[in-house]
Amino acid sequence: MADVDELIEACTVAIHESEPLLAIRDVLRRAVLDGGWGQREATKAGLNVLHNAPELTILDVVWPPLVSILPHDHRMWAAIGIYEGAEDNAMYRRDGSTIVASGVKELRRHDVLLLGDDTIHGVHNPSRSYTGALHVYGGDLVNIERSQWDPETLLEEPYDAVGVGRSFQEAAARFTDETD
Ligand SMILES: [Fe+2]
Repeated sequence: MADVDELIEACTVAIHESEPLLAIRDVLRRAVLDGGWGQREATKAGLNVLHNAPELTILDVVWPPLVSILPHDHRMWAAIGIYEGAEDNAMYRRDGSTIVASGVKELRRHDVLLLGDDTIHGVHNPSRSYTGALHVYGGDLVNIERSQWDPETLLEEPYDAVGVGRSFQEAAARFTDETD
């Protein structure tokens, strides 16, 4: 399955199953195994929205080498499938307005990770090449209000989608400079 319309259709069916997250896991496993996703280029770096609706959001996240996203929440279930490269997920749990570390999940090519609706994680591409991952969310991730946490103080603040996009572009530009 390397066709966007086919992926959207399969995910739309899956979210109406009795166990939506498990059904999404199966869809993602098929999708990342089949390959053919994304174009690992600087021009595609970022959180590319493949689908956005009230019940379902699908992103094709193209991570430049060594880029990171601050700890953040989603306030809905989520699933990640790696089709190329690697993602290191630092997991946290909420403690008042701050967070405490609760473990690390290192995802590699073809891994699928399911996240509950109270998950908080920071994500890093640990490799010197691009990572590609399909991220599926059980709601309208693009328009919901949610949080991120300052990496130094670990204090909660509004999620900064513009800042995240900028950090992806800056990391892609650094990598392009290094390889020129
Ligand atoms: Fe996330």
